Amino acid sequence: MIPQETVQQILHAADVVDVVGDFVSLTKRGSNMIACCPFHNEKTPSFSVSPSKGIYKCFGCGKGGDSVRFIMDLEGLSYPEALKWLAKKYGIEIVEKEYTDEELLSQNERDSLFIVTEFAQQYYADQLSTEEGKSIGLSYFKERGYNESTIAKFGLGYSPDGWDAFTKHALKNGYKLEILEKAGLTIIKEGKDPIDRFRGRVIFPINNVAGKPIAFGARILKPNPKSPKYLNSPETEIYHKSRIVYGIYTAKNGIRQEDNCYLVEGYTDVVSLSQAGIENVVASSGTSLTKEQIQLIRRFSTNITVLYDGDAAGINASLRGTELILEEGMNVRVVVFPDGEDPDSYVKKVGSEGFATYIKEHAQDFIRFKTEVSLEAVGNDPVAKAGLISELVSTITKIPDAIKRAVFYREVALLLNIDETVLINEGNKTSRKNAKEAEKDRNNYQRPDEPGPDFFLPEEYHPVDQTEMVSSIEYKEELFVKDLVCHGHEVLDKDPDTQEETLLADYVLGEIGDATFKSPVLNQILSIYKEEYHKGQLPNTSFFTSNANPKIQEKVINWLSPRYELSENWQKFEIYIPPYTSKLDDLSYKNILRIKKENFEEKFRQLANDLESIENEEEQMEVLKSMMKLKKIIQKLAEQLGSVI
Ligand code: CTP
Ligand code: MN
Repeated sequence: MIPQETVQQILHAADVVDVVGDFVSLTKRGSNMIACCPFHNEKTPSFSVSPSKGIYKCFGCGKGGDSVRFIMDLEGLSYPEALKWLAKKYGIEIVEKEYTDEELLSQNERDSLFIVTEFAQQYYADQLSTEEGKSIGLSYFKERGYNESTIAKFGLGYSPDGWDAFTKHALKNGYKLEILEKAGLTIIKEGKDPIDRFRGRVIFPINNVAGKPIAFGARILKPNPKSPKYLNSPETEIYHKSRIVYGIYTAKNGIRQEDNCYLVEGYTDVVSLSQAGIENVVASSGTSLTKEQIQLIRRFSTNITVLYDGDAAGINASLRGTELILEEGMNVRVVVFPDGEDPDSYVKKVGSEGFATYIKEHAQDFIRFKTEVSLEAVGNDPVAKAGLISELVSTITKIPDAIKRAVFYREVALLLNIDETVLINEGNKTSRKNAKEAEKDRNNYQRPDEPGPDFFLPEEYHPVDQTEMVSSIEYKEELFVKDLVCHGHEVLDKDPDTQEETLLADYVLGEIGDATFKSPVLNQILSIYKEEYHKGQLPNTSFFTSNANPKIQEKVINWLSPRYELSENWQKFEIYIPPYTSKLDDLSYKNILRIKKENFEEKFRQLANDLESIENEEEQMEVLKSMMKLKKIIQKLAEQLGSVI
């Protein structure tokens, strides 16, 4: 764990303009700097950096944060990893603080796994220069055409053909048997001597997004029906197969630059393409992609081109997995190689230019591809064709973007030679069904009895999902917390005798008491604020914009962003924008009253609801009494708010 003082030191040094400026070229506009967003593809800049607030925000894709968040998102690092990255940039030394026993245990285990895996990677790589390694491992790679720099770049290696060469070497270097086993490097069976998992194989290290080895794929040298072609590391604390794709570290810059990711099947496809100068390639390692893997790729681009080996069986199997990519809102294109060729063999055959030309000429959209492939399979069978139509429609409904959906309906209609509106109607039916099911699970705050126009918020409020309805109480809660965070330090009153100042925070926190909010993130912000307040200090906005929790960051950054401030038409929705020059107390007070009133109203509705199912008269009276009481309180609150009930 990095000590809090060091974190502060890093946050202080990591000037947002300096950090972001390393990756994009910023130009000044007013008090901000703007650039084309590095997180999504755009031609006109909507990415804005505020030097004074220490934050950035893209109005195109919605990404925002401080220097740390920027490095996390761009480099795909965790919070502590990003801090370390910045510490390195600014020459700040990190002396990690002492851990609690619990932290020590889990942290130690992860750290040990990283260390022992790196140790193993180095060992396997070194083996390429031993006699055995040279004549077997290195000559295998040479035969496949890999040059020295490719071998070094991917950290390739060789595991000697004995029983326990690596295990012995590791033990000699002080590694414990237990951690070797946990890392999947050594296999221990009762009553037997420990043995190496990988023996007599060439090694492909699997790196995480920060470039650290976390696992290995080990390829057999000569085909052997008794032994699998690849042996892979088991799942460990640091290696979750479903969350990583092979090659992401070497590919990520290329993916961002090309704004496209090539997805191949095998380790060797990635390595060969990289050597041919095609860097934006990752491998799924022979299975279809998981949601987490897609999200990992999506950090760098929303475009995926799936490169299929030229055999039909493989293609049909992968079609299903590809739909998940569509659901994640990515654009999917497909390239099929000639029969018997995979990307590895094909690039060797035609060279990098020939490869690029082939992709350019053969890349086609996934849905068109699927339609054509399936049409061929269906032939003239009308029943099968009907089945195909509903399957295609269901695929299209998975695309989140309405415009894209419309384009695909048209295209598929043409390919199938049927009326486009038939497809659209069918699709709408499917979507409605899906939406209904989703609604059942959703906890939504919408109140059917009074959905007045003020419950609909203007677009600016919620750029991510503009159709989502935010309840009025949640909205008021948000205004309240925003007040506190952005203006808590402002002085409301000064005692003429004692000179003691009353701050907005003193006043507001006193009024709100122990009330909690409906929105978890607002509750978190409030409790952090309270905690600091009770320590005798007021957290400022950057305390939150540099918080490790992205939800908290995002919320507060939205409050600080110009769009939030500029929503002129809020008045129209009876949501007033407090002019923070005067009457702070009055406005905050009103906000508190509003929240209280909403809370009581909700309780009231709850009771009214309960009442219907109560049969016992005495109990009914009790509930009615409580309701009367609530009604009175609500009326009082309403009077104070100056509204008529
Ligand atoms: N794979 C595996 N275990 C196997 C076979 C395959 O884990 N027994 C995974 C590997 O990740 C492999 C991928 O599936 O990279 C694709 O398989 P394949 O095309 O057979 O392997 P390549 O890596 O392309 O190896 P080569 O070019 O030597 O055939
Ligand atoms: Mn292959």
